[in-house]
Amino acid sequence: MAKRSRSDRPSKALSDRGVRFRLLVDSAIDYAIFMLDTEGRVVTWNAGAERIKGYRAEEIRGRHYSCFYPEEARRAGTPAHLLEVAASQGRCEDEGWRLRKDGSRFWANVVITAVRDGAGRLLGFSKVTRDLTERRRAQEALDERARALEEKTRALEAAQEALVRRERLAILGQLAGGLSHELRNPLGVVKNSAYFLRMVLPDDEPARKHLAIIEREVGTANRIVTALLDFARVSVPTRVPSDLNTVVRARLDRAAVPDAVTVAATLAEDLPLVAVDPEQIGLALGNLILNALQAMPGGGALTVETSWTARDVLIGVADTGVGIAPEHLDKIFEPLFTTKARGIGLGLSVVKRLLEANGGGITVESTPGQGSRFLARFPRASEDP
Ligand SMILES: Nc1ncnc2c1ncn2[C@@H]1O[C@H](COP(=O)(O)OP(=O)(O)OP(=O)(O)O)[C@@H](O)[C@H]1O
Ligand SMILES: [Mg+2]
Repeated sequence: MAKRSRSDRPSKALSDRGVRFRLLVDSAIDYAIFMLDTEGRVVTWNAGAERIKGYRAEEIRGRHYSCFYPEEARRAGTPAHLLEVAASQGRCEDEGWRLRKDGSRFWANVVITAVRDGAGRLLGFSKVTRDLTERRRAQEALDERARALEEKTRALEAAQEALVRRERLAILGQLAGGLSHELRNPLGVVKNSAYFLRMVLPDDEPARKHLAIIEREVGTANRIVTALLDFARVSVPTRVPSDLNTVVRARLDRAAVPDAVTVAATLAEDLPLVAVDPEQIGLALGNLILNALQAMPGGGALTVETSWTARDVLIGVADTGVGIAPEHLDKIFEPLFTTKARGIGLGLSVVKRLLEANGGGITVESTPGQGSRFLARFPRASEDP
């Protein structure tokens, strides 16, 4: 008897500790703490579990714990998988969305621990779940604010860049204008001298070959100077009611179209007049046509079309040439951007400036290897009926 009572005492102490421990678990309300059997069915349930998940103990006991998981996690086999990991590794931690009884979701941190007897047999699992929804919301709000800040920083940087670019452009324009003007005269002199030499040199003079080179290169230099002058010229447009079909026809007549390129002009009837400077629009169109022709070294089709909507009058210039790489699309209108060995990269920046000075704009669509289509758009004069 004495022996038994002695052995009773520690077990009573233990059970007291067990009671205390259970009280502790039962009263914890910030954590859902409960036991699962080896299959994953709920065996115990504490106050925290009821508070977080919304089930009362008698409703949930015996049910499989997969009911806490959203449909997609259940379909993916997550509940079973977590138990497998806990069984094989002793413990398993997971974070994710879980379901309350009312179907609402909460962001949970979950720790599942395998519970084994002294012989190592699996008795079940203990599961501790924390509701981190608030923390996650706070984190998300913080992330959102960081993103907004980043966006603002980017916008600020872009604005600054635009400012620098505008300033640089203005300086470049002045420089280019002055320089081109200065270069015109000496180039003219070189050209005249070459012409004079060609006149006086005998026909069989071997140096004639070099004269041809000089004349060709002077031509190139003149082209560059003209482009720079076009770019630098800040002439204010003289806007008059103009028929863009006439502008298109005149430009196409002037274009040096290679034999391998077919030209189609699709001009809309009854095209409304727009208030633009026809000279400047012609210049812009000339640049677009030149680019289109240069994009089709092996030949192809050039299509220029006009059309109109209730608000705009449009000119489209399409080619079946090399096309534009997507990463170049937002650069081609910048001055000095070129992919051509002998290009200056001023054509499209001039086009853009000319169109904008005339109240219009330009967009582009292109498929590398198939061709490009530039679309110039002019708003119809507001006094139009
Ligand atoms: N129709 C087109 N097809 C394919 N690429 C084009 C076309 N038009 C323009 N591009 C691309 O845009 C770049 C810039 O064109 P832009 O007219 O400004 O300069 P450029 O033609 O290279 O030189 P420049 O016109 O000053 O002689 C070209 O180098 C080319 O890469
Ligand atoms: Mg060009």
